Amino acid sequence: MKEIILVTGGTGYIGSHTVVELQNAGYDVVIVDNLSNSSADVVDNIEKVTGIRPAFEQLDCLNFAGMDALFQKYQGIKAIIHFAASKAVGESVQKPLLYYRNNLVSLINLLELMPKYGVGGIVFSSSCTVYGQPDELPVTENAPIKKAESPYGNTKQINEEIIRDTITSGAPINAILLRYFNPIGAHPTALLGELPNGVPQNLIPYLTQTAIGIREKLGVFGDDYNTPDGSCIRDYINVVDLAKAHVVAISRILEQKQEEKVEVFNIGTGRGLSVLELIHAFEAATGVKLNYQIVGRRAGDIEKVWANPERANNVLGWKAETSIEDTLRSAWNWQLKLRERGIQ
Ligand code: NAD
Ligand code: WQD
Repeated sequence: MKEIILVTGGTGYIGSHTVVELQNAGYDVVIVDNLSNSSADVVDNIEKVTGIRPAFEQLDCLNFAGMDALFQKYQGIKAIIHFAASKAVGESVQKPLLYYRNNLVSLINLLELMPKYGVGGIVFSSSCTVYGQPDELPVTENAPIKKAESPYGNTKQINEEIIRDTITSGAPINAILLRYFNPIGAHPTALLGELPNGVPQNLIPYLTQTAIGIREKLGVFGDDYNTPDGSCIRDYINVVDLAKAHVVAISRILEQKQEEKVEVFNIGTGRGLSVLELIHAFEAATGVKLNYQIVGRRAGDIEKVWANPERANNVLGWKAETSIEDTLRSAWNWQLKLRERGIQ
């Protein structure tokens, strides 16, 4: 019998790609999503990609009774991948309580229900944001956690602590915390990708919307940082590669291969790219000329961060594989497909 994995936030950007990879690896998937930042037709597109329709429940993780009923309905859920969260850094500064409630209570509900239904494992979406500006680069999992720059970032730090404290208290749960660097790109079929709400805050959707003419110009936030070309450096990780890390993490939990009940892994490429390098890579990969201009720094931006992914490479047996050119082409094809579908 196939093992059942509950994927919260499974119609979202990273969740949808992960559902595909879980199905490809032979798992049965139940998605729970309240569609606050995604739409139900993602389920159709997952089915188009894999030929398998995942179970889908439109439900809010904040709804404890609803979640309880969900675990009763789908008996035998083996593990959870918890993506569901609010993720806009700027909005979290404006609406901190919304972020604290959504991101903390959703996780607390799951951790309370897991023992009741014998669900022994959880993979949690954490973020490189917990490192702030690291003192040493590339950053390892042992680097100190810095004071969060935003309520959003703080929810990731607190969620990591909630998981640790719950397991330390004796709850029969094993966890893997995946600290993502900057996820970008789309599925190679262009059937799944990122659907930003309103004006994009993140680089790649803003860049592809500029390239297609929705936005006039991409502003590069600063060229006076202490980096070779003066623009900020990040570790851009392909979303399908990232999705595959979740599959490996889930099988590690289910096969009881963990060395500790809570394990942490950086999920990045190990390579830092500046904003200007990324723009030039996009132009080279797609042949599309980009209208951009250097503008002032964005408040709160980290100057440079990239992963040391050796622990994920060696212990988890996962490695980023896709080239930045293929990743940027996938982001561009997704933008073209959105126009074709009349969405953006
Ligand atoms: P996303 O917004 O595309 O996906 C999140 C999904 O969760 C959405 O479909 C949304 O409708 C759903 N959701 C939100 N609150 C919910 C709730 N209370 N109940 C049920 N569903 C709910 O975001 P994403 O980029 O796919 O991010 C997934 C996870 O990864 C998040 O936890 C995010 O914080 C984390 N993360 C994202 C990035 C990134 O840059 N995208 C980086 C690091 C970590
Ligand atoms: C990338 C680079 C910008 C837009 C955010 C969150 C982080 C994590 C990932 C969830 C930066 C520059 C951007 C633009 C630009 N999310 N930029 N012009 O800030 O690294 O990380 O998403 O956990 O927590 O903070 O990602 O895509 O916004 O920016 O020059 O219009 O692109 O300055 O150097 P960021 P981003």
